[in-house]
Amino acid sequence: MSKIFIGVAWPYANGVIHLGHMAGSILPPDIFSRYNRLSGNEVLMVSGSDQHGTPITVTAEKEKASPEQIADRYHAINKKAIEDMGIEFSLFTKTHTENHIRTTQDFFLTLLEKGHLCKKDSMQYYCRSCERFLPDRYVEGTCPVCGAENVRGDQCDSCGETFEAGDIISPRCIHCDGVPEVRPTEHYFLRLSEFNDDLLAYLENNDWWRSNVKTFTTNWLKDGLHDRAITRDMDWGVPVPVDGWEDKVIYVWFDAVIGYLSASKEYSEKVGDKDLWKKYWQDPDVKHYYFLGKDNIPFHSIIWPAMLMGYGGLNLPYDIPANEYLMFRGGKLSKSRGGAIDIPSVLSVYDSDLIRYYLSAVMPDTHDSEFSWEDFAIKINNELVSTVGNYYHRCLSFTYKNFGSIPEAGDTSEIDSEIERAFEEYDNHLKGCDFKKALKAFMDLAHFGNKYFDQMKPWALMKTDKKKCGEVLNSNLKLVKALAVMSWPFMPKSSERIWSCLEPGTSLEDSGYASITEPLKAGTVLESPVPVYAKVELPKEENKMEPKEEKEPESKEEEPEDFAKFRKLDIRVAEIISAEDHPDADKLFVLNVDAGEPRQIVAGLRAYYTKEQMVGRKVLMVFNLKPAKLRGLRSEGMLLAADDEDLGGEKVLLLRPSSDLPNGTRMDSGLGSKGSRIEYKEFTEAVMKVYSRRSASEMGTELPEGSPDPVVVIADGDRTLPLSDGKGSVATLESAITDGASVR
Ligand code: MF3
Ligand code: ZN
Repeated sequence: MSKIFIGVAWPYANGVIHLGHMAGSILPPDIFSRYNRLSGNEVLMVSGSDQHGTPITVTAEKEKASPEQIADRYHAINKKAIEDMGIEFSLFTKTHTENHIRTTQDFFLTLLEKGHLCKKDSMQYYCRSCERFLPDRYVEGTCPVCGAENVRGDQCDSCGETFEAGDIISPRCIHCDGVPEVRPTEHYFLRLSEFNDDLLAYLENNDWWRSNVKTFTTNWLKDGLHDRAITRDMDWGVPVPVDGWEDKVIYVWFDAVIGYLSASKEYSEKVGDKDLWKKYWQDPDVKHYYFLGKDNIPFHSIIWPAMLMGYGGLNLPYDIPANEYLMFRGGKLSKSRGGAIDIPSVLSVYDSDLIRYYLSAVMPDTHDSEFSWEDFAIKINNELVSTVGNYYHRCLSFTYKNFGSIPEAGDTSEIDSEIERAFEEYDNHLKGCDFKKALKAFMDLAHFGNKYFDQMKPWALMKTDKKKCGEVLNSNLKLVKALAVMSWPFMPKSSERIWSCLEPGTSLEDSGYASITEPLKAGTVLESPVPVYAKVELPKEENKMEPKEEKEPESKEEEPEDFAKFRKLDIRVAEIISAEDHPDADKLFVLNVDAGEPRQIVAGLRAYYTKEQMVGRKVLMVFNLKPAKLRGLRSEGMLLAADDEDLGGEKVLLLRPSSDLPNGTRMDSGLGSKGSRIEYKEFTEAVMKVYSRRSASEMGTELPEGSPDPVVVIADGDRTLPLSDGKGSVATLESAITDGASVR
């Protein structure tokens, strides 16, 4: 029984956290914490929203809000998203609190008193037309190390290099695009160079660090450390606690890392044990683990340890299992590239345990890894559902049907040793923060379970030897329980459901790993089992990223098809989950929709609908339109709306299905759809117009019984059909529009 401390990189409160944050820095520590708790250790795990610095002020200017509004808006969203993912922090707080500001100022003053800080004039960017200093993200330019363009003034996202003012090539002011000048301004500096030798020794001692972390850190140290400015000319942040420095604040990174300590103190206050943090920070036997993405490595492996060494008496990081990046469509997963990959949107479609499973299976622990919805569906359906879920369900439902309760055990030694062997492997991997391999050990045990069930043929034994059959089932259920416990760090919700079938009224967490080979209580009455995992729908062809080869038509002379142009479209029912204003365009909304899978759509509808009118609305979308960037944000489809402008009207009305169809339902009018990706031009070639029911009938359109008014009619020459799901649900509008209005 020991104590461990887990620090999780604090996400900036300037946007909604997405799958990249989850896979990179938030899910791994939750797995690790749960693993430690099941092993009987006590864990203090803290993080919070990083609310200061230019990441927040730049976003605030863009979204025309105050930094505090931005910082609190995204803190609330992200805190909830983290909880909804089943992540259990001791405390997830934020940096703009009195406690944190006090702790940071105390840290600063202690370092100052001990001579680890000095004041120096430093050269900073200054924009003459904006009449202000331009710290960090207010300047962009070219990376002097790797040549990446449009990198920020303080760090290159491509190669991870961090900069001081003056480092980047061809700097530009992000406000006016002008060339900033470099002016002297006084700042406090952390005398990092003094810690060079101590840091080298520290690094050498900690030879268990992941190789990416070790390499990065060694290279940094090899170049020799430079003193770093830890104050900035701006007014949002922790005030510098020195007279005469009222118009400067402490650099966001200096304050953020202190968050690990301030959050530990806040937690101690909260649980009414105000010195509790000391047990974690001052006892040298307590190991400190920090989880983060690779761009955060130097701040945790060099700067934070140096700050701690300077402060004195507090534990240094023991391990820093930094992850590489989760990639999506060939680039680093990010809001602008990835579409609807933010956690709230993803959770509106998929269960948190499924996402946790997939992210664990593709975790970028040693290399960047690739994320795709198609791979997600494959891994969920072919691994989780068909191996684990299937095994649970076979065992529980067969026993339930034939015995109704847990039967008496026979000799369970074979199963016990199999569990022990798998557990040992799993335990070793988890101890070393090797999550992917631990998950694999778990999956192998589930495979074994399925094989064992098949080999023992309980269905045959049931006819010949009911007692033996019961013993075999008892062994299988024991394995089910072990699997449920072992999967708890990865998929806690489903794991607890299985546990409660077998051990009703007890707590999985309290029982811990010690319970995995303990005998089941024979006679425990089983409830009718419900499968814990269900298959997810495979995204359709066009969603694959590989460019599609143009295939030769099978037969040389194909008959021209009716409605050939319409059949190129893949139109689907979707629901709008969220609507935000586009930060850089007055007319555009950025929407997250559920079309059976999450999609991001940028739509020019702000003149016609409010956000409140958008959210929750069922709409029709073109699902297979080639994704495009609209003012910098990716749009993965288009909403269908009727527009009577060219007929002299001024209405724009969104199409909707006449009945409440499930998201993802195809509206192909029963004709089938080719479904491959199309260009916008191909979309415009299909003729779709809105008519009153009466006009449509007069044109000879066959409308299903009970059609709404108006209806959307597709035309090919003089043949017409209502736009429908082919089963009686047709596309319509919420109110009338000029007859013949076109759909765009
Ligand atoms: N907010 C930073 C980022 O998103 C991480 C800060 S980690 C901390 O890159 F420990 F310093 F808070
Ligand atoms: Zn670079």
